Parts: sequence; C-alpha cells; structure tokens
Amino acid sequence: METLTGMERTHHCGELRISHVGTEVKLAGWVSRRRDHGGLIFVDMRDRSGLLQIVFDGSTAGLDFSKAETLRNEFVIGVRGKVRARSEDTINPKMATGEVEVLVEELRVLNKAKTPPFYIQDGVDVDEMVRLRYRYLDLRRPEMQKNIILRHRVAKIMRDYLDENGFLEIETPMLCRSTPEGARDFLVPSRLNPGQFYALPQSPQIFKQLLMVSGFEKYFQIVRCFRDEDLRADRQPEFTQLDIETSFLNQDQILTIMEGLIKKIFETTLDVKVETPFLRMSWDEAMTRFGSDKPDMRFGMELQDISEFVKGSDFKVFNSVLEHGGQVKVIRVDDYANIPRRELDGLVEYVKIYGAKGLAWIQYTEEGVKSPFKKFYSDETFEQIKQATGCKTGDLLLVVGDKASVVAQALGELRLEMARRRNLIDPDKLCFLWVVDFPMFEYVEEDKRYKAMHHPFTAPREEDIPLLLTDPEKVKANAYDIVLNGCEVGGGSLRIYQRDVQEKVFEAIGLTPEEAYSKFGFLMDAFEYGTPPHGGIAFGLDRLIMLMAKRKSIRDVIPFPKTQSAVDQMSHAPNEVEEKQLRELYIKTTVKKK
Ligand code: AMO
Ligand code: AMP
Repeated sequence: METLTGMERTHHCGELRISHVGTEVKLAGWVSRRRDHGGLIFVDMRDRSGLLQIVFDGSTAGLDFSKAETLRNEFVIGVRGKVRARSEDTINPKMATGEVEVLVEELRVLNKAKTPPFYIQDGVDVDEMVRLRYRYLDLRRPEMQKNIILRHRVAKIMRDYLDENGFLEIETPMLCRSTPEGARDFLVPSRLNPGQFYALPQSPQIFKQLLMVSGFEKYFQIVRCFRDEDLRADRQPEFTQLDIETSFLNQDQILTIMEGLIKKIFETTLDVKVETPFLRMSWDEAMTRFGSDKPDMRFGMELQDISEFVKGSDFKVFNSVLEHGGQVKVIRVDDYANIPRRELDGLVEYVKIYGAKGLAWIQYTEEGVKSPFKKFYSDETFEQIKQATGCKTGDLLLVVGDKASVVAQALGELRLEMARRRNLIDPDKLCFLWVVDFPMFEYVEEDKRYKAMHHPFTAPREEDIPLLLTDPEKVKANAYDIVLNGCEVGGGSLRIYQRDVQEKVFEAIGLTPEEAYSKFGFLMDAFEYGTPPHGGIAFGLDRLIMLMAKRKSIRDVIPFPKTQSAVDQMSHAPNEVEEKQLRELYIKTTVKKK
C-alpha cells in the first residue's frame, strides 16, 4: 500500500468550481463510482465536502494507468492533477462540482476496500438493520454526513447564542440517585456500595434547579439523558437535550429568549425565515380544536362539536354518550364524500386503536346524505350539521362520540391520518407553536392516583395553589411545550421554589411526607436557603435535527442509535458479562442461561 507522504491535500473535492480551472490540486478521499471506457477511466471521488469527477487518461505522461484500472468502489486514494472545465455536453447539473473535473497526473492507492454490503450513496433502499450493522458505512453516505454536520452546526449556534445571552454551560452528574417519577430508570450497580445502585439521569432537572439555588442564574448544557421507555421513531433510550434553566425571569421572558434561539438556528442553517413571536395556545384549546397537546398546524381539519344537533334522538349510541357527559365531534374531510366503503371500515378499526368504541360518518353526496345514523335524524338536522361544520356537497364528516378524552385522542389521530392520506401536509412549512397552561396533574387509572403531567417541580398557577389538595384536576401549571409541525421538540416550566408548595404537590401525587423527604429531601432542604424564583426548558436536540433534516426517525440524526428493541446492532450491546464481573457487583441474574 502507498503512503500519503507528499500527497497531502490542498483542496477538497466538493469545493472545486469553474474558477479553479487550471489550478493544480491534491485530493484525498474515496472512490464512489468508477466507469471504465477503455483508455479513459472516470471516477466519482468523494470526501466529506462532496463528490467530484476525476479522469484517468491512458495517454497522460507519467501516469501509471494500470493502477487506475485496479480501482474499485470505496478504495481510499490520493490524487494530484489539474482542474479543467468539462465540455458543454458533459456538464452534470446535479453535482455542485458538475462543471469541472480533475485530470489526474498521479494516483496513490492509500487503502483497498471490500465490496460494501450496500452502495454508499443517497436514497439507498436498504433494510435499516443492515444500515445499523454497518453504521460506519451508512454514515459515509452524503445524506447521513449532512445530518451529522447539521447537528454539529446547530449545537454550535446553541452554544454561541446562549453564551451571548449570559448563559454558562455547566456539567451535572451521570451517576445519580434513582428518583423514578417520570419514566423507568437505567440502573448502575455500585461495586463500592454493595446492593446499591445509581440511576442514569432522565434529565438534569434537580441539579439544574440546585444550580439556581447556587446563584449561577443562567445555566445550559447539551446533555445526554437516559430513559428506559418503549421506543418509537422519535424516542431513543439515550437522547440529547439542550437543557436550560434561568433565575428571575418570568414565563414570557423565557419563551422570548427561546424563540430567539430557534429563529437563529433555522435562519442560519436552513436559510428560512422564522416569524416570532410564535403562536401561543392553551392546552385546553389545543385539545378542543385539535384533539392533541402537540397539534400539527400545517393544515386545518379541526375538531367540531355537533352534540347540540344530535342530542335527544332515538339513536342510542349518541344518547348514551351525551347522557354520560360525553360529546359527539367530527372532522371534515373536504371532497371525500365518495370515500370507498372499504376505507371507512378500515378507519373504524383505526380509531379503535385509540380507544374509541366506534366511528360514524356523514357523506354529503350529490345523491343526498349517506350515514349509518341517517334514519334517526331529519333532513333538517343533517342540513344544520352541514351548515355548522362548513360542509359543501362532496365533503365527508367523520364522527366519534365518547367522553372528551377519547374523542380527542381518536379524532386527533384520525385527523393526522386523513391529512397524510389526502396529502394535505406541506412538507416545506414550519409551524411553531407554544402550548401553555397545561393541567398540573393527570389521573393514572392503574395506580389510582394523580401524577404530575410535566414533573412534580413544576409551579402551579399562583391562584390555583389553594386547589392542590381539594381539586387537583382544576389546577393549571406554569408549564409550556414547544411544538413544531406536530412534534414536541421541547418542554419546560416555572418551578416551585417554596418548600411548603413543594410539599403540597408531593402530597397531591400521593407521596407521604416521609417518602417525599427520603427521595427529594436534599432539594427541599435547599429551598430553605434562599432559592430564587426560577424556570427553564429542555429541547430534544435529536427531534429538532430530525425535523430540520426532514427525516422520519431520530435514528437518522444520531450517529450510533439503538434499534426498536434498544440494541446496538453493530457492537451488540447490551451483552452478557462474565460471572466474575457480576460477583464483584454482588449481582445474580435470574435469567436461565441458554
Ligand atoms: P421532557 O421530559 O419534556 O422535559 O423532555 C424534554 C424534551 O426532550 C425530548 N425527549 C426525547 N427525545 C428523544 N427520545 C426520548 N426518549 C425523549 N424524551 C424526551 C422531547 C422533550 O420535549 N427536565 C424537563 C425539562 C424542563 O422542565 O426544563 C424534561 O426533561 O423533545
Ligand atoms: P352499534 O350500535 O355499535 O352497532 O353502532 C351503530 C353505528 O353507530 C355504527 O355503525 C357506527 O357508525 C356508530 N357508532 C358506534 N359507536 C360510535 C361512537 N363511539 N362514535 C361514533 N359513532 C359510533
């Protein structure tokens, strides 16, 4: 194999343009594609900056052409040559460097490569398991490099922006006390403390609040968080947050700083205009109008209530729903009254996934109204519903009756599904939204107790504090989520900073004073030594980059992600460990060896 000595690069492949014509360049990179035309060999050469056509001509003086004939895809090469303009008819408008090529005068083969398991190019149709198994090759593909480079740039802008605004980047521990309030913890056994465990942080929440007690005033950290949850396209067991906390700012001031950050990120990296301030919508309104606490605002199709028109009929389904305090709501699908019956049947099954007992519809066709509950209502009622929901002939209403939470979930999901099927979502639109005034608690049926909707350090609205123990369902929190195109990209809140309020919230979620003190005593103690009013937010960096890069999964913007079953397909983590290691940790597994 040859060495690089004397061939150190002077230029990068992707940067060469017509203005470089005549320049002698030295390049280093990979063979992306090779076309052999007898005495002429064309190679698309790739480095991090992009692709460039280089040419080996058998008649070039001093060139060892036979070496060029041995080149295969993914060989690592160094070349020296001259940039020349391509003739008019060979210009490649699809390549940034498509107007030029380099005529090679010297070639070094720096390393050979086996034939890779898939082509190293964009848009490859390869099973994701194979991509993850050979992640180092997958990451060599230009579109993946672009995502990782974007990630770097965004992180850099975050640091710069926050630094300019007086924030300090401060690290917090990775080996923490287990406080299972949110998701399940990942545990780490302690060899030096037999039988005891650390937890990996689900977020630096408590530490960042303690940093406020310490007087740092403005903190941030780009930090890994760990949650042992069931995984989805936008969830990984380890993920990255931009975590932020501030003292002495009100909610409005915090949101404004964050809007400035988002604006700067998008305008600098994607060159798109972002209008601020973002729309702010209460949680109640989001649930009522969109059936979701993270509404995708790129299209309409809002939920509409038709309870008043369908009440008091002979139709048992709606009667029973309304008598039990439920509601009957619809979404309007424009120009789809002629939906195939088969698709309607499929939609019935679809809403059942989200807890609805059934789905009905009204089709306003040229031939009149079609609906499973047609016989129970007068033509006039159907006309009233048509008017009220803004339907025209040719439109379809999809109807769900149930208690409010089920209607919201079923129709909220159906709204998204119908928008996808009807192609109503403009992929180039960016719709930012703050959802504010979240409920403080949600009731967990399985545990028969309330749980903090955000986390138990979130401050209830001042005027709702007296309701904490008497009427928890009515308490609203000073909590906010930032939503982009239907994805929750961040969330935060103002925090409790008085010990007595914190104690009441712990009590409301069913912790005895002893339990609360044993879990969070250090925080409650700290509150007694002059704690400033404070609040903050955390952005999901992976999700933000996923949306910016227009990918469907956060795995595409994480260099080495885990599969759906939390496995690293390449290094095969997690793995069994030796008995000796377990013994040192005082651990015995109950899993039978295969
Ligand atoms: P929260 O739990 O809402 O808040 O998390 C903040 C943001 O992190 C992202 N996120 C995830 N991304 C990928 N995989 C996951 N498993 C995952 N879980 C969460 C989301 C989410 O909006 N300490 C609080 C913040 C605060 O109050 O300041 C917190 O962690 O984009
Ligand atoms: P059933 O009495 O269950 O046979 O339902 C009669 C019709 O009522 C069904 O065909 C559905 O169109 C409709 N339906 C049933 N349950 C619901 C529901 N929860 N919401 C809306 N429509 C429903």
